[in-house]
Amino acid sequence: MHDEIRNIRNEFMALVTDAKSEGELGELRISYLGRSGKLSKLIKNMKDAPKDQRSGLGQLINETKNAIETELSRQSVKLNENREWFDETIPGEKPQIGHIHLVSQAIKEIAEIFSKIGFVRARYPEVEWDYYAFGSLNFTKDHPARDDWETFWIQKEPHPKYGPMLLTPHTSSGQIREMMRSKPPIRMVNIAKCYRRQSDISHTPMFHQFEGLVIDENISITHLKGTLDYFAKMYFGKERVTRLRPYNFPFTEPSFEVDISCDVCAGKGCKLCKEGWLELGGSGMVHPNVLKAGGVDPKNYTGFAFGWGVERVLMMRSGLKIPDLRTLYNTDLRYLTQF
Ligand code: PHE
Repeated sequence: MHDEIRNIRNEFMALVTDAKSEGELGELRISYLGRSGKLSKLIKNMKDAPKDQRSGLGQLINETKNAIETELSRQSVKLNENREWFDETIPGEKPQIGHIHLVSQAIKEIAEIFSKIGFVRARYPEVEWDYYAFGSLNFTKDHPARDDWETFWIQKEPHPKYGPMLLTPHTSSGQIREMMRSKPPIRMVNIAKCYRRQSDISHTPMFHQFEGLVIDENISITHLKGTLDYFAKMYFGKERVTRLRPYNFPFTEPSFEVDISCDVCAGKGCKLCKEGWLELGGSGMVHPNVLKAGGVDPKNYTGFAFGWGVERVLMMRSGLKIPDLRTLYNTDLRYLTQF
């Protein structure tokens, strides 16, 4: 048995220098020192050895066991020395946390403001036919006012009934689609992407508009004015007021440009606004021809509509200085993470 013990020890010593990981050392420990390991088996067999040899054998087994233990830990230290040093107490690098884009924040806020007075949000196609963007909105065929909208036309065979295909240059295309989809009373806010051939510090080829449309019995300019004032106060602040200025759109009669009192001078007139007012966007009473095109009888119903730029109201909000609108869309995180 003495030889057997020595053989086990030699075998172990040869194997342990080859171990390449803590895992392999653990396996060696189990197969030599474990409950059914090679040494334990010998201890069980000791009862068969002659009596006078037993204590000597016991001592040898113990020594071997200790030698194996010592070698296992020496080897483990050696493996750790070769490992790259790593301090797990150093705080980690936090992953970057994103947030909702400034324009999406504005869209959400605008939708919420209108939902409080019963406007339901709607969305309609961005790739449209001329009929919905212009034709049904009381632009006669080939009317040059189409040019005012600097439209992107799509190279495709025109529709026999709806004309050429285009990218929606304004959200007003949703007016007819909404009237065709539902019946009065209508209270819709259509917030969507619009496209125009334009790019400078206050214009991007793709931008967003929000279009309000209200159709019911006895709707008058007073309702329009009240709605616009409500929005101005909710979005820009309590002290702000709006004014309507006569204008012309083919799809509204009468038509207005909406101005908001300047927040720098509170309407008195200053360098920014000149006369105390800043231009917000278009509005008016829905033209009877537009109601008819949408299947609504103008004898029973009237309505108002307005369409403003999301980026524009965002830029005009007090305290927000966006010197170039295009920076909103150039994905430079150094700029966008500020908001
Ligand atoms: N669609 C018009 C524009 O883009 C704005 C508008 C909408 C005007 C609704 C009147 C009524 O300029």
